[in-house]
Amino acid sequence: MTQAASIKAANEVHSPKCSKCGATMRIISFVDKEHRLIERMISRIGDRLTSIESGGTVDPLFIDTAVDFIRVYADRTHHGKEEDILFRDLDKRALSDEDRRLMNELIEEHTFGRRTTQELVAANDRYRNGEDAALRDIAEKLRFLTSFYPRHIEKEDKTFFPAARRYFTDEEDSAMLAEFYDFDKTMIHRKHTWVVEKLESRA
Ligand SMILES: [Fe+2]
Ligand SMILES: [Fe+2]
Repeated sequence: MTQAASIKAANEVHSPKCSKCGATMRIISFVDKEHRLIERMISRIGDRLTSIESGGTVDPLFIDTAVDFIRVYADRTHHGKEEDILFRDLDKRALSDEDRRLMNELIEEHTFGRRTTQELVAANDRYRNGEDAALRDIAEKLRFLTSFYPRHIEKEDKTFFPAARRYFTDEEDSAMLAEFYDFDKTMIHRKHTWVVEKLESRA
């Protein structure tokens, strides 16, 4: 798909509109697609949680896959663009007290999500090494993540992003969109650098 086609496709999904002027925001259309994919993964994680809660076990490889998705896609790729581009530019604007409070709250939630994912990795390692009681900790971390992500996404979709629209001109929106594409282009290289570094650290 060409970049122009990608932008067109991104603009065809729901575009949060400014609550005052009704203008749409192209970067938010882009992020919106990522939110929908994260929701699909969270739904699959929720299925596994239900299975654990009804007395089942969990395959540690499923947790590895879920952690990889959360870290590489939901956090580094998605939250990375929010924090390193959108929030960075918003931080330079004269945000209302409420908008700044909400942006800081979203950043804190990203941090809390990272910490919980790290704790999930630790619990999964203990479970994989034969500690059956670690399943309870895995369930607790999955419960948090399946509740956290939908609430976080809803806050951004319904409140923060529509409010953010009014701080940018169309040209500024387009410039951020170009940065989003550049950011994404680096992710496949970053991801596989982490893979190699992790293997090297075990050698
Ligand atoms: Fe976020
Ligand atoms: Fe988000």
